Amino acid sequence: MTVKLRQIGPCFAAEVDGIDMRKPLSPDEVTEIHEGMNEYAVLVFHDQDIDGAQHLAFTLSLGELEAPTRASLREADDYRLPTTFNDVSNLDKNEQPFAREDRRRLFAIGNRLWHSDSSFKVVPAKYSLLHARTIPSRGGNTEFADMRAAYDALDAETKAEIEDLICEHSQIFSRQQIGFFDLTEEERARFKPVRQRLVRTHPATGRKSLFLASHAGSIVGWPVPEARLLLRDLSEHATQREFVYSHKWSVGDLVMWDNRRTMHRGRSFPAHEKRDVRRTTLAGEGPTAAQVG
Ligand SMILES: [Fe+2]
Repeated sequence: MTVKLRQIGPCFAAEVDGIDMRKPLSPDEVTEIHEGMNEYAVLVFHDQDIDGAQHLAFTLSLGELEAPTRASLREADDYRLPTTFNDVSNLDKNEQPFAREDRRRLFAIGNRLWHSDSSFKVVPAKYSLLHARTIPSRGGNTEFADMRAAYDALDAETKAEIEDLICEHSQIFSRQQIGFFDLTEEERARFKPVRQRLVRTHPATGRKSLFLASHAGSIVGWPVPEARLLLRDLSEHATQREFVYSHKWSVGDLVMWDNRRTMHRGRSFPAHEKRDVRRTTLAGEGPTAAQVG
């Protein structure tokens, strides 16, 4: 074993030693990382002094990249990074923090609500790999919630009630929750809701977990207020402290998580400070539910 894992916090997160992302991974290392992801769901790699090409190469050695789509309010000529990256920073293309009132920022800070990456896409994400280049002087933690443990802790009646429910996810719904309605017709069409199962089974472990996100705004066949109350109850249950690991970033950290069995959220930090974090994303296996239209 060249790779060593050490549990941190709740039992679904671990720190990894023995990986240098400046070098190609051996087949054994690839296997050990996947096994580590299946055993845990959040892996933390410290001190990775890598450039974008090395971040991308590490990602591609673990699977297929999610197809790039415009999931933010940045215009095409407004990108700071290549489309192989999700720019999770608060920086414009000139490397300056967005003004506090900038709608691109106000939309982006919706990621401070609990979510699973790309649950608003027909094929939701598998792994996300977030690398920290610049971090603010305070705040900006990323918190993760274990949706498998949360599912296991539900009573049998609730498990039976939610087993086959289908939710509709859209970034329109998550932004409504923070009072952001400033979307154009084109953006509303681009963020059209997609359907996802509320309970999903992990393809590698066969274990069930809740598939929740603030993007979930309705349940097929349910009145909206009742659906939102159930989703809120389940989210409150799933994000109790016993199910949560909070990651305090250092420059050079790369944190990888499995979106199929975790939720996460960013925490606030001073708006005028730079937070340069960059994400690559691996594609999921396929849709979790049949779509309409
Ligand atoms: Fe995210």
